Amino acid sequence: MEIQSNMLTLADGNQMPQEGFVLYKVDDQETMNNAVRAAYEDGYRLFDTAQLYGNEAEVGQAFKDLNISRENIFVTTKVSEANQGYQSAISVKESLKKLQMDYVDLLLVHWPIQRAFFDTWRAFEELKKEGLAKSIGVSNFQIIHLQYLATKANEMPVVNQVELHPRLTQKPLLKYDEEHHIVTQAWSPLGRGAVLNILELETIAEKHGKSTAQIILRWHLQNGVSFIPKSVHPERIQQNADIYDFSLSPEEMKTIDSLNQYARTGREPELTYEYNHQY
Ligand code: A2P
Repeated sequence: MEIQSNMLTLADGNQMPQEGFVLYKVDDQETMNNAVRAAYEDGYRLFDTAQLYGNEAEVGQAFKDLNISRENIFVTTKVSEANQGYQSAISVKESLKKLQMDYVDLLLVHWPIQRAFFDTWRAFEELKKEGLAKSIGVSNFQIIHLQYLATKANEMPVVNQVELHPRLTQKPLLKYDEEHHIVTQAWSPLGRGAVLNILELETIAEKHGKSTAQIILRWHLQNGVSFIPKSVHPERIQQNADIYDFSLSPEEMKTIDSLNQYARTGREPELTYEYNHQY
């Protein structure tokens, strides 16, 4: 069974698969090779890593071993907080060396931090001009960060990757992103596995003969957001790609929307006095 991931057109004209595969907490080379091979064979084409994950070299090696052409995959990496500022550019060149690639398809600012907020983005705009990143975006930005960035950016992010799952539905942010032609991408689309045993989801899953993980991913799909589930188990990797042969009714979508509890599994993005003070 091969995934039939939709392609999304980004505001810069580039295309990005809607469903991807995150290589978070996949460290040793053998686990990496197995996960990458299983995901590729199941049809995943978007692969997401980060400087912070400490595994860009293993990701690069896994793709080298797989021996596929670069144009067949869409690779994202993220600049860590420690590397933000003008040195972003140096760190991205190091990332590319580790990845054994000439460019990344998508480069993200991993977290908004006030120190280096605009310097980082200037560096990203330059990296895009140089062709080292085909598209540039951000991660963990809230509306206020995007508004603040808009005051000085020459071009705006085309993707905002944030924590998003049935216990953290982020509706106002999704609306803002959509209105500003920014694709929202869900990290931890399954709430790190913590939302899989919710009764309402189990009821919907039973009705469709699917797992709760598949129901949640289908909800993301129908919401039009991009999503990058994580698994190191081949049967789950395959299961998470098998969500294209059924659909959720408007009532089922509403039921899942209503599970929101503003519950983060990760930390709250920093909201400083200065950001607020600008407005
Ligand atoms: P594992 O890697 O052991 O398969 P998220 O993508 O929200 O961060 O969630 C990832 C977590 O959910 C991981 O712990 C992963 O475990 C688990 N997981 C991923 N896919 C499935 C699935 N289809 N069924 C059950 N658990 C899953």
